[in-house]
Amino acid sequence: MIRLEGVKACVFDAYGTLFDVNAAAREEQAALGKKWEQISDVWRTKQLQYTWLRSLQDNYVSFWQVTEEALNFALASADISDEALKKRLMDLYLKLDVYEEVPETLKKLKDAGLKTAILSNGSPAMLQSAVDNAGIADLLDGVYSVETVGVFKPHPSVYQMAVDELEISASHMSFQSSNGWDAYSAKDFGFQTLWCNRFGQADEQIPATPDQQITNLSQMLPILGL
Ligand code: LAC
Repeated sequence: MIRLEGVKACVFDAYGTLFDVNAAAREEQAALGKKWEQISDVWRTKQLQYTWLRSLQDNYVSFWQVTEEALNFALASADISDEALKKRLMDLYLKLDVYEEVPETLKKLKDAGLKTAILSNGSPAMLQSAVDNAGIADLLDGVYSVETVGVFKPHPSVYQMAVDELEISASHMSFQSSNGWDAYSAKDFGFQTLWCNRFGQADEQIPATPDQQITNLSQMLPILGL
């Protein structure tokens, strides 16, 4: 195990890292049928693809809109046409389950005097809703949305927001994401980085390698000497 040194703030990705992106489809599995996991996977994959495409096109819209457009694609791919179901899935996306270890881990970080924040593609209302639903608002010093810079991750201006908002240099921050591409890009930007590889994904083949892989967020505590 490595030790991260000099960390003053811990910054977290939201979707897939703190909040379970499969929770909405899981909740509606009776309506979606036995392919619900595949549909959830297409929804998430398309959602991310659309963020990258829109960033390249210089055609930013909110993550809420991207999420809905990706769901339209996922449902159409599964030959499902059901507006009421679509609305229920979008509503569920506002209150995704928080991963079990998250509240306790955030509390331990705060008790140790570290700053904590979310840095996410999510639009402000989506993030606020997820944070309130999970009951973790008091455990966060900031919730930063890409809406401020009008471009999605992994644009460097997104990572720079955490530096500017917290007024702490990148090298004194630890960034956690379950999305490999996000963890690699954050490391490339200059953060100390932990890849919370919840889904056992293979190494990415893009610049910069995260300092360490973990499989759930509580494992970051000893790495920070806590
Ligand atoms: C986010 C996506 C990448 O929360 O999971 O920014």
